Amino acid sequence: MSWIKNFFLYLSENQMLNKGARRWGLKLGAQSVVAGTNIPEMIESIKKLNQHGISCTIDNLGEFVFEKEEATQAKEEILRVIEAIHEHEVDAHISLKPTQLGLDIDYDFCLANLKEIMEKAKSYDIFVNMDMEDYDHLQPSFDLLDELSKEYDNIGTVIQAYFFESVDNIQKYKDYRLRIVKGAYKESETVAYQDKADIDANFLKLIEYHLLNGKFTSIATHDHHVIDYVKKFVKENNISNDKFEFQMLYGFRKDLQIELANEGYKFCTYVPFGEDWYGYFMRRLAERPQNLSLVTKQVFNK
Ligand code: FDA
Repeated sequence: MSWIKNFFLYLSENQMLNKGARRWGLKLGAQSVVAGTNIPEMIESIKKLNQHGISCTIDNLGEFVFEKEEATQAKEEILRVIEAIHEHEVDAHISLKPTQLGLDIDYDFCLANLKEIMEKAKSYDIFVNMDMEDYDHLQPSFDLLDELSKEYDNIGTVIQAYFFESVDNIQKYKDYRLRIVKGAYKESETVAYQDKADIDANFLKLIEYHLLNGKFTSIATHDHHVIDYVKKFVKENNISNDKFEFQMLYGFRKDLQIELANEGYKFCTYVPFGEDWYGYFMRRLAERPQNLSLVTKQVFNK
């Protein structure tokens, strides 16, 4: 199966297809995992999730940004999203990617964009999560986080279990609200576990550490084995429900999302929206080739 995974990860990195896909509209089944191409559509999707007691984290999709103009447009759109959260009084916060805001162009330019976003979010008491991308961007992203934390306390980030160094990072950033994930990019064996069993074992280790020692833990996974393990672990260790939440991506395991919220757990859905859906969707196909059924349904049920 790993050739399928590598194939989709390869496609996710193809910049030509990525640019082309923006002109297609939401295609190939992406519409079931992307909550619309614009802010009004996205807000409607969030209102429906909020009705189930599910909060949301909003991702304005975008990658491969190498032009300042494009990064500025992305920043403006995120500022509009923050305004929309406030105006519509929805239960939601922001997820963003440093490369979309210019990290590959110029560090200080990216930092300035992030500061503008943080300032606006803080004025409305909205939390901002910095998503983590591939290994090349790991340290620069932590540098941005360190810099922003000097002025803002409404920021957190992601720890990816496949990286060897995540054990150190979870300790260093224990006073932050952290989302813990397995890791979605193709990484070298010099920096990351390759074997699923090793990644899963490290994932549980990191989750346990942050639940016991950290500020607030977002356990982001569709893996019911992990979810069941966490439910047992928090019970055994008297960790109250306000110290953690489960997170899943929009459109995945919808019944389980609602079930967990109904059981009284905090639940947050990651809601991607926008025209730049291609790389995000290809990574989802890489993770779970069964998601290909989304594509075949779209192609054959015309
Ligand atoms: P995984 O894909 O390992 O599946 C394990 C098992 O769970 C499967 O064998 C199956 O039994 C079950 N399962 C999984 N999906 C299912 C489905 N749809 N239906 C039924 N059963 C299913 N990555 C990153 O590098 N940086 C980031 O910032 C983020 N952010 C992020 C936010 C959120 C909210 C989520 C959920 C994920 C991320 N990720 C991420 C992606 C993450 O790193 C990881 O690639 C995916 O979540 C896939 O791993 P899982 O833990 O979900 O299960």
